Amino acid sequence: MHPITDALPATLCYLDGEYTALRDAKISVLDRGFIFGDGIYEVVPVYDGQPFCFEEHMARLDRSLAELQIANPLSLAQWREIVARLTAPGGNAPQSVYFQLTRGVAPRDHSMVRGLRPTVFVMVNPLPPVADAIRARGVACVTAADFRWQKAHIKSTSLLGAVLARQISVEAGATETIMFRDEWLSEASSSNVWIVKDGTLIGPPKDNLVLTGIRYGLLERLCEEHGVPFALRRISREEVFAADELLISSATKEVLPVVSLDGKTIGNGHPGPIYKSLYAAYQQAKQRNAQKQGAPA
Ligand code: PDD
Repeated sequence: MHPITDALPATLCYLDGEYTALRDAKISVLDRGFIFGDGIYEVVPVYDGQPFCFEEHMARLDRSLAELQIANPLSLAQWREIVARLTAPGGNAPQSVYFQLTRGVAPRDHSMVRGLRPTVFVMVNPLPPVADAIRARGVACVTAADFRWQKAHIKSTSLLGAVLARQISVEAGATETIMFRDEWLSEASSSNVWIVKDGTLIGPPKDNLVLTGIRYGLLERLCEEHGVPFALRRISREEVFAADELLISSATKEVLPVVSLDGKTIGNGHPGPIYKSLYAAYQQAKQRNAQKQGAPA
């Protein structure tokens, strides 16, 4: 009897062309995802039965696959069909779809064995919204050195660095671990990080040291629509602590205000005006997405 594994969900998942109960899905022990972490993934939120920023997520999936020299085995329409089938039972409740592709199954050999059939796995999970009380109060985060590798732009399933980084904040009772490389802000263990200074939303550059979240493009668009200046540049540790507002973003957290970092108050210690307008704009974007896609073709 194991309290976690015995309770694995029976919800449907997709594995290599078959739909099966999640708890029954099995892969080979020689899968290169299992042996080497030789794979990539995506996490796409679904609201009102409609994937949000789907094409942007699928474009990033293609970029990650290209880095690994793996061809995408499915068309956008086929990916959409899988998402539709898996999310249908969830109705209008928020869900997240997890996609994983690995190079496939082969005898263990570090080199990129050619001609393998990629393993394709898709599952769906409920996406509970961040509680209103937490949004109203803001969250606490801690900092750590970014000890991950130099190819953070690939959404790789080799996530040991992210697991070790996240555990630092778990043990501190904090929401995220915000990381610095040589005193420059990179990102958090599974979120991007933004500062607000004098009304401008500022994020680290899109380079190999961070995963360019799909919210990079989304927040840039929302800023443009709402007259908030937006900039990408290197951000020092000092600037982070001196920010008027500090935000984190991800598919699952949307945009979330950080009001304390390593126990020090950020800004006035409360979620700020830029957070509030971006969060409201984000909710409008979700509604527009649901209406657009729900409209008859
Ligand atoms: N994580 N940076 C890292 C390291 C991440 O893992 C994520 C997302 C982000 C934000 O990207 P996006 O806005 O596209 O979600 C930034 C996902 C949610 C995860 O691993 O579950």
